Amino acid sequence: MCSTVLTFVAAHVHMMFDFRYMLFNMVAFQDLVAAVEINIPDKVFSEAQESIRHRKAPEMGAAAFFCLLISLWVQDATATNLGFRRSDFPHDFVFGAGTSAYQYEGAVAEDGRSPSCWDNFTHAGKMVDKSTGDVAADGYHKYMEDVKLMSVTGLEAYRFSISWSRLIPNGSGAVNPKGLEYYNNLIDELVNHGIQVHITLHHLDLPQILEDKYGGWLSPRIVEDFTAYADICFREFGDRVTSWTTVNEPNIGLMASYDVAIFPPARCSDPFGATKCTLGNSSTEPYIAAHNTLLAHASVFSLYKEKYQAMQKGVVGISFYSYWSYPLTNSTVDLEAAQRCKDFLFGWILDPLVFGDYPEVMKKNVGSRLPSFTKNQSELIKGSLDFIGINHYYSLYVNDRPLETGVRDYNTDMSIYIRGSRTDPPAGQGAPSNIPSDPKGLQLVLEYLKGTYGNLPIYIQENGMGSANGSLDDTDRIAYLSSYMENTLHALRNGVNVRGYFAWAFMDLFELLSGYQSRYGLYSVDFADERRPRRARLSARWYSAFLKEKAGTSALLWDAR
Ligand SMILES: *[C@@H]1O[C@H](CO)[C@@H](O)[C@H](O)[C@H]1NC(C)=O
Ligand SMILES: *[C@@H]1O[C@H](CO)[C@@H](O)[C@H](O)[C@H]1NC(C)=O
Ligand SMILES: *[C@@H]1O[C@H](CO)[C@@H](O)[C@H](O)[C@H]1NC(C)=O
Ligand SMILES: *[C@@H]1O[C@H](CO)[C@@H](O)[C@H](O)[C@H]1NC(C)=O
Ligand SMILES: *[C@@H]1O[C@H](CO)[C@@H](O)[C@H](O)[C@H]1NC(C)=O
Ligand SMILES: *[C@@H]1O[C@H](CO)[C@@H](O)[C@H](O)[C@H]1NC(C)=O
Repeated sequence: MCSTVLTFVAAHVHMMFDFRYMLFNMVAFQDLVAAVEINIPDKVFSEAQESIRHRKAPEMGAAAFFCLLISLWVQDATATNLGFRRSDFPHDFVFGAGTSAYQYEGAVAEDGRSPSCWDNFTHAGKMVDKSTGDVAADGYHKYMEDVKLMSVTGLEAYRFSISWSRLIPNGSGAVNPKGLEYYNNLIDELVNHGIQVHITLHHLDLPQILEDKYGGWLSPRIVEDFTAYADICFREFGDRVTSWTTVNEPNIGLMASYDVAIFPPARCSDPFGATKCTLGNSSTEPYIAAHNTLLAHASVFSLYKEKYQAMQKGVVGISFYSYWSYPLTNSTVDLEAAQRCKDFLFGWILDPLVFGDYPEVMKKNVGSRLPSFTKNQSELIKGSLDFIGINHYYSLYVNDRPLETGVRDYNTDMSIYIRGSRTDPPAGQGAPSNIPSDPKGLQLVLEYLKGTYGNLPIYIQENGMGSANGSLDDTDRIAYLSSYMENTLHALRNGVNVRGYFAWAFMDLFELLSGYQSRYGLYSVDFADERRPRRARLSARWYSAFLKEKAGTSALLWDAR
């Protein structure tokens, strides 16, 4: 998903697009370079590999590339060995890439699929670029070709999500045979190519019918319907699935949906929304929806353990959004603010699932607006986690902000100011500059999770960078990905139980905050062409060379130019 620092977004209503888009792109949006169709990925790919080998280095590009590398390295004072290889990671560590249903599939009104909340949201014209996921990357029709592309790339695992409204159009009840067929075919194709299957059950795209029926995640009724949906997925697909993530980044997703109203169902109350609020309550609803999410997750986890674990031997976890928070200064109040940020961001989801209750500081600051778990619920949720999934993009600086006495929302309950770099003004008090890439922050998140929550297995489920111009010559993305991968290795060597890394995204997608204005793909997609042709970026070739461990491949010293 295209996640963001929503506090920034809420404060900068006029810039309601992916924050990463602002961070990493200094240039204005330009038209995409004209894309050329790939009909036979295998052939084109090998030709591309060949052309790289013989390519001459453009002087300026190479210089810029090295400057970027240098700037990354001066930030990472502990690194001594700049190179690493696939074989430096454990054999059973998996490298993959991801997509999600609404962002990838398109075919929104085909073969019996009913609208999800994203269809309603985009059709109401709520995206900055007025775009929709009606066609997106057209994955519903092109998945065979895409799996081939994954195979050629050497992807070891693929992370995708199931569209609940495609599989069970009424939200509960009858299964749509066409939906079942699509996911069975996709999974078979992956398995036939030796690619591990990692599925997210809910990637923010609730069937609209459940929003209409009882308010979706705001109602405890969601627990039963989500469990029934998961039961069908486990029953039908579980024999071929390695890993199940129940819900994708509820911590930031629910804030976006119920506090600042930039994701469907776009509920909020003044003054917290990105637009004038008509329906909702920013002070209470994010907490209620999170509470129901945790109960639904736990219910699905115990269902899997009781009914499927013995046969299917998969794992069940949840993901959350995880920026690293540095204290702005070393004053006691700022150190506490940085800890409070971690408790609100990670602890909101992880404390209940690991310890059985919300963090103390949340109970204190949110008070009676924070739902509480009954003793039975607490016992059910405690320990309902085989792994932690994290989506990680950057680090932020955090300092103390006195707790306001009036009406508060999630952000003011957290009582912090955040900024993208030490020298930026706090969010909402001036234009942010570009946030520097901070690969060390990923290592710090991983080590923090190990230290705080026991050494649970961790999958990095999303990491990547957006570009506005969609250039195929994305050396900046290579520098970004490789530096984050290397810091994952540092964490591994320090004993963190990290088991996998998934780049976001396998290809360009409909991005949830920016529509088609920012591109995250290893492969480009030409959205102006109705056939949605894919094309390998330099980063796809680099990732492929890394995965296949070609002679001379070493992530940071890789010399394709
Ligand atoms: C695209 O943007 C990146 C910065 O994100 C820049 O380095 C690159 O030169 C741009 N490429 C083109 C073709 O404009
Ligand atoms: C959502 O979209 C469906 C299909 O277009 C429509 O019937 C329904 O009224 C919409 N619901 C809301 C709450 O906008
Ligand atoms: C969905 O619900 C409607 C109304 O309750 C019903 O008529 C229809 O048969 C249901 N469809 C499926 C596929 O269950
Ligand atoms: C939100 O809910 C709280 C607690 O029920 C209530 O006090 C407050 O008035 C509500 N706010 C709005 C805008 O409805
Ligand atoms: C705070 O202390 C740490 C550890 O001693 C140090 O690395 C860091 O630079 C200090 N930060 C500031 C802003 O002084
Ligand atoms: C709590 O769990 C116990 C034992 O599993 C059960 O007997 C009891 O009915 C449950 N209480 C509630 C309120 O659900």
